[in-house]
Amino acid sequence: MTDNITGKVVIITGASSGMGEATARDLAAKGAKVALGARRTDRLDALVNEIKAAGGEAIAVATDVTKLEDVQNLVDTAKETFGTVDVIFNNAGLMPLSPLDSLRIDEWNQMIDVNMKGTLYGIAAVLPIFKEQESGQVINVSSVYGHKTVATGAVYCATKHAVRSLSEGLRQEVKDYNVRVTVISPGAVNTELTQHITEEGLGDAVRDAVSRIGVPATTMADMVAFAISQPANVDVNEILFRPTVQPE
Ligand SMILES: NC(=O)c1ccc[n+]([C@@H]2O[C@H](COP(=O)([O-])OP(=O)(O)OC[C@H]3O[C@@H](n4cnc5c(N)ncnc54)[C@H](OP(=O)(O)O)[C@@H]3O)[C@@H](O)[C@H]2O)c1
Repeated sequence: MTDNITGKVVIITGASSGMGEATARDLAAKGAKVALGARRTDRLDALVNEIKAAGGEAIAVATDVTKLEDVQNLVDTAKETFGTVDVIFNNAGLMPLSPLDSLRIDEWNQMIDVNMKGTLYGIAAVLPIFKEQESGQVINVSSVYGHKTVATGAVYCATKHAVRSLSEGLRQEVKDYNVRVTVISPGAVNTELTQHITEEGLGDAVRDAVSRIGVPATTMADMVAFAISQPANVDVNEILFRPTVQPE
């Protein structure tokens, strides 16, 4: 499984909790050099220390993915530190669900800025490097909600549909210079994601449902490792996974 992972430089956004954190820990244990971005740098620093103590290589870079300059700095710092960039895992995301008529417009904007524009900024920051070296892999995070739309999830679903759409467009455009594009769509995973739902009555219901059936964040780490570990001429374009008992 560690074939084609050892020695690779992997940038991970949203590495301070949940699936980003679990993936960072797993890839570092498999010999990848990981560059970790998020806003909560205390958490990133603790994870870097843990990875280093276990013999791995990692750096932490304060990153707000809504700022192109922050994402560019994350990528540039990874390249300066480790000499190259092989993979970006555009994982940072937010899911403050609410009905549209609650008019939580600040939360709509946050989701568009983090889930969609943050992913685009990650792509923008690595593409010149990947084009020049004629190799690389972009791994974007969509959702089951990038395949279907549900009430209270109109904006979140729209951002996750957008991630799938731009991933397929990217794939078609960069295949000629040997760049792989993967989009991973999780179902319910036990992380902090549901903590940001402010809509009264909805947050507790969603948190209860996810905590009952959600799979651990390490499930995503397994998917990412599978996609990276394929031979360079194999591009795993889409992975959709759910807890076995998830109804929809
Ligand atoms: N959990 C699920 O059931 C599920 C299902 C489908 C899809 N997903 C997707 O999976 C991805 C990971 O989420 P998770 O479930 O692991 O949730 P999580 O534990 O809440 O992690 C989200 C991460 O995103 C980061 N983030 C949020 N805003 C950011 C910003 N402006 N700049 C940089 N980083 C930011 C957070 O870091 P800071 O707050 O420290 O910046 C955190 O590390 C998201 O894209 C989410 O939409 C999750």
